[in-house]
Amino acid sequence: MEQQKRYGHFDDQHREYVITDPQTPWPWINYLGNEDFFSLISNTAGGYSFYKDAKFRRITRYRYNNVPMDNGGRYFYIKDGDTVWNPGWKPCKTPLDFYECRHGMSYTRITGRKNGVEASVLFFVPLKKWCEVQKLTLTNNSSDTKQLKLFSFEEWCLWNAATDMENFQRNFSTGEVEIEGSTIYHKTEYRERRNHYAFYHVNTEIQGFDTDRETFVGLYNEFADPQAVMEGKPRNSHAHGWSPIASHYIEVTLQPGESKDFVFLLGYIENEQDEKFEAPQVINKKKAHALIAELDTTEKVDKAFAELCEYWDALLNIYKVHTGNDKIDRMVNIWNQYQCMVTFNFSRSASFFESGVGRGMGFRDSNQDLVGFVHQIPPRARQRIIDIASTQFPDGGCYHQYQPLTKRGNNDIGGGFNDDPCWLIFGTVAYIKETGDFSILDEMVPFDNQPGSEVTLFEHLKISMDHVIKNLGPHMLPLIGRADWNDCLNLNCFSWDPNESFQTTENVSEGTKAESLMIAGLFVVTGKDYVALCKKIGKADEAARMQQAVDEMIEAVKKHGWDGEWYLRAYDFYGRKIGSNECEEAKIFIESQGWCTMAEIGAEDGMVAKSLDSCKKYLECEHGMVLNNPAFTKYIYEYGEISSYPEGYKENAGIFCHNNPWVIIGECIAGRGNDAWSHYAKILPSYVEEKYQTLHKVEPYVNCQMVAGKDAARPGEGKNSWLTGTAAWMWLTVSQYILGVKPQYDGLQIDPCLPDTANDYTVVRQFREAEYTITVHPNGHQKGVKQIVLDGSAIDGTIIPYTPGNHTVEVTM
Ligand code: BGC
Repeated sequence: MEQQKRYGHFDDQHREYVITDPQTPWPWINYLGNEDFFSLISNTAGGYSFYKDAKFRRITRYRYNNVPMDNGGRYFYIKDGDTVWNPGWKPCKTPLDFYECRHGMSYTRITGRKNGVEASVLFFVPLKKWCEVQKLTLTNNSSDTKQLKLFSFEEWCLWNAATDMENFQRNFSTGEVEIEGSTIYHKTEYRERRNHYAFYHVNTEIQGFDTDRETFVGLYNEFADPQAVMEGKPRNSHAHGWSPIASHYIEVTLQPGESKDFVFLLGYIENEQDEKFEAPQVINKKKAHALIAELDTTEKVDKAFAELCEYWDALLNIYKVHTGNDKIDRMVNIWNQYQCMVTFNFSRSASFFESGVGRGMGFRDSNQDLVGFVHQIPPRARQRIIDIASTQFPDGGCYHQYQPLTKRGNNDIGGGFNDDPCWLIFGTVAYIKETGDFSILDEMVPFDNQPGSEVTLFEHLKISMDHVIKNLGPHMLPLIGRADWNDCLNLNCFSWDPNESFQTTENVSEGTKAESLMIAGLFVVTGKDYVALCKKIGKADEAARMQQAVDEMIEAVKKHGWDGEWYLRAYDFYGRKIGSNECEEAKIFIESQGWCTMAEIGAEDGMVAKSLDSCKKYLECEHGMVLNNPAFTKYIYEYGEISSYPEGYKENAGIFCHNNPWVIIGECIAGRGNDAWSHYAKILPSYVEEKYQTLHKVEPYVNCQMVAGKDAARPGEGKNSWLTGTAAWMWLTVSQYILGVKPQYDGLQIDPCLPDTANDYTVVRQFREAEYTITVHPNGHQKGVKQIVLDGSAIDGTIIPYTPGNHTVEVTM
């Protein structure tokens, strides 16, 4: 095995990833904030902040895909004699005597040392507050008195991140600031339709400031050598238009051994329309003053930080495993759950691969994300379900995406993705099983957010199922519409125009022939869930009606969806097979194998086992399972975007980590624990971390959307980290199927599927008002529970009936 350089390591005790070399193969980032105010921060302090919506309320500016990469952030410049350095190495890149970045649960601590001075900055967003705290601690470890010149730096974004990058004829004239004591206020466009402003404050007297970028940096200089810093002289500039910034200048004297804290605060404020100004043209700063007063001392900041840590302690106490294998425990107990929270918050909007301007919240994406998150904060998942359902159309179709600030469907992309409706059932059922809260089904929820159109959420679920049944094709399989889960399999699109988007171009027709086996499997899985739900709430007729539809779908798949060794992927616009041995390329696809095996379609005829074997034989490689095989080597007009990618990347035979768990769950349901485990470990970040930091490139503590497949130029190279449905699916896989602790309406079902080498392990699971300590003794078995002893008495079956209180459970396989 090629020896790979390491850039960091896990610190499980502190729930941190510790980066020890700033020159990581790609910026390794973290997320700050849990509800309204958010920041992205790289290991060199790059990134930006926004309020709720990365497009419409961007607070600080960031330049994506720039030279150098990761350009712009919150920078502290320390001028010590002639040496200027930054605690996070960038942007000056002055070699440091010591560097460390610790990414933790919603916080990041970056420490640098140079010439006897240590600068350590703790970045976090306090709970329920609209600000980012940057607590800088400067320590003089030398034996000389140090006279330091400290400059802070933030660059304001003019609110709308999209127009900020394009509409310069307007932008360059709109910027406005106010300066009051140690606070710099960003009030661009506040005079007209905006009633929000931002500020950057420090809790000490300042000796100067700058608010105009070119004056501070110099037109021919860079972030690496801003003129004001290099000369050690702030300009006290007042921005009028151009590019407003915020920089404080502080002179610091440190005796040997002395240490000083500075609390910097980047805040966001909204005012009522009639309380906007305290004097003509002067912003009303009352709320800013109040926020500052809450965090103006080290003690207050430390308390807010302790609260954040307690918040995460509580969240991560809900599901804890002890297997004795650090690589599993740290992913299950820390990083996988953390990534689930982040994807729940952001959907696919803002990462270092998603610019925050393109996509809002996805209908299917958010439903999947909430399944990874629902055990953490169920009320937020509940609200999310209502928000999502409110963007559905009366015929059961739905907006593919919505904008988080307005919660309105996104017209640019529209609807017509025919898998979308099923995901609403997937999300809602997971919520009810976790909470036992059936009342959500009675919530009145509008269509397309139109007041007066409200029906119960249950009605929404019903029309979701009906949407599939009403849109069947010639083989009685679901019509694919614009696309199913695979956005890039565009069977009704037909584009020769490079200026067209595959996803939004007018379909040649809605398509009456192109059918999807992925939706067929998804329909059977969610249909079974829907039937069980109907029975549970006493809707026997509806249950029977849908059971029949599910049975018919199973028959259709067996008859028209089986290729001999695996499930077909689709039928195209002309009714020709896709993902068949008869095809020239892409003979087999992963999505339909995953969904049809999870649905157990044709298990009795050996289809499931054959399909899973085919995944091993044709899709698996060293780094995971590829999406399709063989890769497309040319563009196929009838298939669309999927064939536009080079071999081995993205949807064209990349390892799309999102759908590997579908097959793994299929393996678990089939009881093949060894195979499930070997697939799972291949894409488990902690295993990859150990082997491939350089090759993998992206953060080793979270999953990425795609790893280059075996046909790629650099197999194993990861891309698009953080915001991916992979997080929720990895969580579902390990928590419910491998470790086998699965919420059901009436209790917790225990049904693990393990490699035959698995040792005894213990899961502590908080569930509603109860806590279960569950110890599993696998005894070399991959599947099959022999006996469950609850609080000393053996029970029948695999479901522990729910009762509040603390319980111990012994499981023998
Ligand atoms: C999208 C998903 C989609 C997947 C596969 C992701 O980028 O967010 O909605 O299912 O790609 O195309």
